Amino acid sequence: MSTPQKPLSLLTTIFFLLLLSPSISTNPPTPSPWPHQFHALLFMNRTNTLQKLDLWYDWPNGRNFNIIQDQLNGVVKYDLEWNNGTSFIYTLDPYKKECEVVHVEVGILRPDWLEGGNYLGQERVDNFLCNVWEKVDFIWYYEDVVTKRPVKWIFYTGYTAHVMTFEVGAVLDDPNWQAPLYCFSEAEKERVSPILEPTMKGGSFSRLMRGIDHAADDM
Ligand SMILES: *[C@@H]1O[C@H](CO)[C@@H](O)[C@H](O)[C@H]1NC(C)=O
Ligand SMILES: *[C@@H]1O[C@H](CO)[C@@H](O)[C@H](O)[C@H]1NC(C)=O
Repeated sequence: MSTPQKPLSLLTTIFFLLLLSPSISTNPPTPSPWPHQFHALLFMNRTNTLQKLDLWYDWPNGRNFNIIQDQLNGVVKYDLEWNNGTSFIYTLDPYKKECEVVHVEVGILRPDWLEGGNYLGQERVDNFLCNVWEKVDFIWYYEDVVTKRPVKWIFYTGYTAHVMTFEVGAVLDDPNWQAPLYCFSEAEKERVSPILEPTMKGGSFSRLMRGIDHAADDM
């Protein structure tokens, strides 16, 4: 008498498991928001250029730093972005003092900037099993399934970041966020030279923040 009930109760169990377990449901996983403060060492690659990039993300203080070194090039480039839309792009080399001040209408990336991205499934990249999202045809983002840390991202230009270290809570000391004096002298500003190549700027996040319409305008 109990035998015919077994398949039914098994089905019922599976049904409730499906109801209760969000991982089995059809909801795609959502990307983890960025920690409010972190330091990441990135290896950047695009055709013919390798770079080491120190990323200091500091949301509570409204600032973001990209410290960029091209392979075998001693002149380090500093790209300091403030949440009020002002960026200082400069070198500190005593023989190559340059600064460019850029104003955009938007601030730095919000910690939840990936929200609303399209989930593309799982893929093994850089030897990690990752969840993959794409946002506004601008960026493809790979997050470790287990640790939720970013592993890699690719801008639509092909400019690719491989995350080498990811220190949650690391903060760069205040004095390092002071742009050099020559960023503030009118004479220097006028003979501004574009320090960062256009492809580099196209691969920065500011385009993402301005949205796909403006990104298309800039192309
Ligand atoms: C860098 O990217 C190019 C293609 O854009 C690829 O051929 C090359 O293998 C990459 N190098 C590294 C170190 O990932
Ligand atoms: C934005 O903030 C930075 C740092 O405090 C400052 O140097 C810059 O002048 C500000 N820009 C504007 C447009 O207020």
